[in-house]
Amino acid sequence: QAFFRPISRAAPPSPTKRHNKISVIGVGNVGMAIAQTILTQDLADELVLVDAKPEKLRGEMLDLQHAAAFLPRTKIHASVDYAITVGSDLCIVTAGARQNPGESRLNLLQRNVALFRNIIPPLAKYSPDTILLIVSNPVDVLTYVAWKLSGFPSNRVFGSGTNLDSSRFRFLMADHLDVNAQDVQAYIIGEHGDSSVALWSSISVGGVPVLSFLEKQQIAYEKETLEKIHKAVVDCAYEVISLKGYTSWAIGYSVANLARSILRDQRKVQPVSVLANGFYGVGGGDVFLSLPAQLGRSGVLGVTNVHLTDEEAQKLRDSAHTILEVQSQLNL
Ligand code: NAI
Ligand code: 2OP
Repeated sequence: QAFFRPISRAAPPSPTKRHNKISVIGVGNVGMAIAQTILTQDLADELVLVDAKPEKLRGEMLDLQHAAAFLPRTKIHASVDYAITVGSDLCIVTAGARQNPGESRLNLLQRNVALFRNIIPPLAKYSPDTILLIVSNPVDVLTYVAWKLSGFPSNRVFGSGTNLDSSRFRFLMADHLDVNAQDVQAYIIGEHGDSSVALWSSISVGGVPVLSFLEKQQIAYEKETLEKIHKAVVDCAYEVISLKGYTSWAIGYSVANLARSILRDQRKVQPVSVLANGFYGVGGGDVFLSLPAQLGRSGVLGVTNVHLTDEEAQKLRDSAHTILEVQSQLNL
């Protein structure tokens, strides 16, 4: 007997909303920060967690399920078996080794490529139409690896890239100028890491180009100050890792924001790691790095034609070169 008795014989209306299923692979600090942000922001009807450690996985699943009374309605499942991910709209990969204090992201490559060989093929098998969003580091090279291992078209494989670095940049700029970070339009592009590139020429605050804004406000503007802000962006992950051992909250919000753009077809422009050959003279092989890209229900819809100065374009090509050098150690 059903718990509720229907009030009429008419069949209940069928749901018109699209059912969204998100799978998060890896339930460490990053995977769980993403999962809980997705839940609180009501982005999925079904959230699946996968990890290699069954006890930890079940513990995390139960802990989230026990918050059901305080959250929008989302079915939460977990398994070490990838069959549970079947029919996912979006698969977010966070599994893998993370940096020790002082260690660079690129140093994680061999360890995490080995894991990706066991993660990406089953995801592609169970969800052949899914979009893969890679977060594990080094994120640009691993996005390339995921693209190769999945055999998916490049619009359905992208990395969280410098969406996080750009948020850090906007926060630091907002702090410097005493404005709201949401009013700061600013991009960090290139590698998510040490060779990233700050696009000073296109920053605006409240629609006003920042360099003229600084002049108008008579805020002493020196190239050195701006470079210090970019250096702080590059250094801040190292600082957080040395203080608390890992980073999690900012990447959780960053990735949930990307999930929203995809699943709600928001067509927002966000800096994410995409196949970048041919853009701004980037060449020398297939390489993923961050460029301002438009995101929607079918993944990466295109790359926005932001103006780069010659110096910025050269720095972007140098960043691509750094990634390609690391990638040349791979044997896929
Ligand atoms: P963590 O050590 O807390 O969690 C990693 C999880 O991966 C563990 O639960 C582990 O059991 C799981 N795992 C390992 N091998 C697996 C496999 N074969 N299949 C399924 N699960 C497996 O690490 P944390 O802090 O969550 O970091 C995860 C990754 O995210 C790291 O590579 C880190 O560098 C990266 N990261 C990337 C960011 C970005 O902006 N792209 C930001 C922050 C971290
Ligand atoms: C971050 O930037 C460590 O890639 C990670 O927070």
